[in-house]
Amino acid sequence: MKDPAVSVHLNSEKTLHNGYFGEYGGAFVPEVLAGKLAALAENFHAAMKDQDFLSELQYYLRDFVGRPSPLFLAERFSAEVGARIYLKREDLNHTGAHKINNTVGQALLARRLGAKTLIAETGAGQHGVATATVAALFGLECIVFMGSEDARRQAPNVERMKLLGAEVVTTDAGTATLKDAVDAALGYYIQHPDVFYCLGSAVGPHPYPSIVREFQSVIGREAREQILRAEGCLPDTLIACAGGGSNAIGLFSGFLQDATVTMYGAEGGGTDVAGLRTAATLTRGRPTVFQGTYSYCLVDDAGQAVDAYSVSAGLDYPGIGPEHAYLKDTGRVQYFPVMDDEAIAAFGQLSRLEGIIPAIESAHAIALAGKVLKNTGKLAIINLSGRGDKDMGRF
Ligand SMILES: Cc1ncc(COP(=O)(O)O)c(C=O)c1O
Repeated sequence: MKDPAVSVHLNSEKTLHNGYFGEYGGAFVPEVLAGKLAALAENFHAAMKDQDFLSELQYYLRDFVGRPSPLFLAERFSAEVGARIYLKREDLNHTGAHKINNTVGQALLARRLGAKTLIAETGAGQHGVATATVAALFGLECIVFMGSEDARRQAPNVERMKLLGAEVVTTDAGTATLKDAVDAALGYYIQHPDVFYCLGSAVGPHPYPSIVREFQSVIGREAREQILRAEGCLPDTLIACAGGGSNAIGLFSGFLQDATVTMYGAEGGGTDVAGLRTAATLTRGRPTVFQGTYSYCLVDDAGQAVDAYSVSAGLDYPGIGPEHAYLKDTGRVQYFPVMDDEAIAAFGQLSRLEGIIPAIESAHAIALAGKVLKNTGKLAIINLSGRGDKDMGRF
């Protein structure tokens, strides 16, 4: 194994320029999008050096989103697991998840580019709500694409998006979940290149994995400062759920250079990993080009992407961000599937022990913590990526 601390650092520097994390990443898109993505990358790099842009971003993160989010010591959960566990409370952000960190940043980029319409895909609906919210905030039109199965299982979020003034376009293609919503959004983007595609996770063609990582990295920066203040040392362990991988990379990015910090990603195991009724992309998938990027993907024997399955709409995706593919191959982060029933049990467990109802996505990270931290006494941070209101009455 390469020295992860060094190679990750060098690699993320390189990624800013060419969109690759080791061999993963890139932009595999039709000609009509290539120029648009290049302009987006240029605009993004300029924005990240523009003090006015950064001040505005900071202002909205503080006064609109409510950052910094607290780092909370979960004492009763810690006692039950046998470790010292803090929760990074992204569930307390405005709109109830980490997704808003990214949409505020991307909406500000859209304004710089003079776009009048935001489009987005959504699975759990949290990214759709977060996009509809910033569209309302900045007076932009908003169209959200969603699989009809997800619209059914995350109905409260569909109502929220509509109330916020967004148009919600559902698709019945495939399994009518996140992958199909991304296809629908990409299709619309190709036909309407004047809109701004506000992509919700660290996936897709360059520069999106770098943009989303940057806007979510506030989670890791804050968590690092907060744990040092609370405990006077770095954590032993970080745990986050990984759908496309944005909340996980947001937390991990603050600690990648610290070789003593062990990191775990919880994938949506579904009900049968070997039988492919799963969303455990890094555990069960293979490197391939999918939805504009080269990364791991769940594929059939012919190498074609297959439909994923997870009880969690936000994890129900056959792809994964290219940086996670790189972090898996280098061994810097370990990824494990968490099965539906384990996540559902953790959903109830955290609610009863801490008075915090987690999103079913976040409950995957809670369940993994229960296993990898069991009686270790380790100091850990779990990213509580969102709150569970949207999942009420489902289990
Ligand atoms: C609360 C919550 N957590 C996690 C995720 C997974 O996304 P990502 O892996 O990009 O953080 C989602 C996606 O919708 C979500 O809503």
